[in-house]
Amino acid sequence: MNLRIPGPTPCAQEALTAMSRQMINHRGPEFGEISTRVTSRVQEVFQTKNDVLILTTSGTGGMEAAVVNFLSAGDEVLCVIIGAFGDRFSEIAKAYGAKATLLSFEWGKAADPDEVDKALAANPNYKAMLVTHNETSTGVTNPLEELARVARKRGVLTIVDAVSSMSAIPCPVDKWDLDVVVTGSQKGWMVPPGLAMVSINERGWKAYEGAKMPRFYFDLGKAKSSAEKGQTPWTPAVSIYYALDVALEMMLKEGLESIFARHARIGELTRQQVKALGLEILADERFASNTVTAVKVPEGVDGKALNKMMREEYNTVLAGGQAALMGKIFRIGHLGLVSETDILNCVDALKQALPRVGFTPAKA
Ligand SMILES: Cc1ncc(COP(=O)(O)O)c(C=O)c1O
Repeated sequence: MNLRIPGPTPCAQEALTAMSRQMINHRGPEFGEISTRVTSRVQEVFQTKNDVLILTTSGTGGMEAAVVNFLSAGDEVLCVIIGAFGDRFSEIAKAYGAKATLLSFEWGKAADPDEVDKALAANPNYKAMLVTHNETSTGVTNPLEELARVARKRGVLTIVDAVSSMSAIPCPVDKWDLDVVVTGSQKGWMVPPGLAMVSINERGWKAYEGAKMPRFYFDLGKAKSSAEKGQTPWTPAVSIYYALDVALEMMLKEGLESIFARHARIGELTRQQVKALGLEILADERFASNTVTAVKVPEGVDGKALNKMMREEYNTVLAGGQAALMGKIFRIGHLGLVSETDILNCVDALKQALPRVGFTPAKA
């Protein structure tokens, strides 16, 4: 099966094999060794010397941790939204009583740093900016470095959802001076869902000291104290640690720069191939994502029927559109364990399926 959704992504066989290992004492030295090694390698991928804490949860749990540990009810936050995951970040902030101002951009477009700067300048009370690095619902990568620079200039904490970018496209946390950054194991890391990773810098920890939102399971202070002993406050997803341990070894062997170059190459190939079929890409191409491509469903084609046919008859699993884009786009994931051949096979399948749902590809 060619699993071309933007997560969960196919796992490295080495990671799957590692997961069949027997359980160990999560309070014992063996787990301590694994968690210390995994944490320091995750820091390498985040390109940071900041604390990185690993939580047993999905990406959304990591986003919730990134909100409740650094804010108090009533705090003003600017939510920079370019799609469904930006919406989700704002919903989490609102659920815990933050005063969220939504700065929304048309889906398919990236956030404009000047607009963000204007919004931040208009209200000196903002405590934080919540922003998505790579918007999986639209296939757009935000100019995060610029956005973070603007927030820094205005003295606002930058809290980043890097769930579908980190480990696949560059997100150098220290270089870009990002305060809190979240990612999830089932995306670029080639392992199953179950772990979220969060980096926190000094400014983040300072905000933590004054933050009063309720928290328990996701209390990052507790996670930090436990991590110092090679443990986690609660029982961790031990098997996913096994998997991540070997996946990180593979990743660092390939090298970060090579991983980023492979994703850039495959992202470009995907866009070229899709356009060559006569299809249109949703994203403003200057900001097109190298981990997921959103493709407009052609006029008169039933997107649901296309995805069903691709899955049932061509062994290719595509993602549909989310929220307002449901039925309007389909998405091809190309992150983690992905090669040119995976994309060429997917495009081949599209070539065959599209005429059967009413669209004649340009090169059919
Ligand atoms: C950009 C982005 N943010 C957040 C999430 C949510 O992660 P999860 O589904 O692991 O909770 C996802 C995953 O789909 C994502 O792509």
